[in-house]
Amino acid sequence: MLASGSGTNLQALIDTAEVRAHITMVVSDRHDAAALTRAEEADIPRRVVQFADHLDREAFSATLADVVEDSGAKGVVLAGFMRVLSPVFVDRFPGRILNIHPSLLPAFPGARAVEAALAAGVEVTGVTVHFVDYQVDQGPIVAQVEVPIVEGDDPGTLHRRIQEVEHLLYPELVKAFVKGDLYLDGARVVGP
Ligand code: GRF
Repeated sequence: MLASGSGTNLQALIDTAEVRAHITMVVSDRHDAAALTRAEEADIPRRVVQFADHLDREAFSATLADVVEDSGAKGVVLAGFMRVLSPVFVDRFPGRILNIHPSLLPAFPGARAVEAALAAGVEVTGVTVHFVDYQVDQGPIVAQVEVPIVEGDDPGTLHRRIQEVEHLLYPELVKAFVKGDLYLDGARVVGP
């Protein structure tokens, strides 16, 4: 599991026994990520790999891949990981990296997807779970769930409703992923 922030998705995954049994380690790029505290409370090994300790994104991605591989993990689940992974990382886990994004991709990729949906004035946004490839927020889509934008929404209220959906959707899909019932066949998503 890779996480940079509050780790509410990580918590939902930890609370899902079938997923928890497969979590080998939580890796963060930030020492102060609350996600690390959640991992500690769940007795899950933790590591921090800081971007600033590396020359560039390639070197950072290579260290990250080593750490994940050494943990024994066969796949990677991104749960609010806020760094772009270079092909150096993606190639080490081909078709075995899942991400969750707070919009209906391909709409509103990037780090400020919730704000961007509000600014655009759309009536519906949502959640996307997808496999990670070389392009940021563009890999093969596994599932999408809509979240309506309501009168008076601000980034906080909208993100909270999006996260309620995330916390139900991601555990179900990661459960299938760790069981081998969700995988990529070329560019085609198979299952669950
Ligand atoms: C989630 O909304 C997820 O979609 C995005 O980053 C956020 C992480 O939140 N990739 P948390 O750290 O799981 O609370």
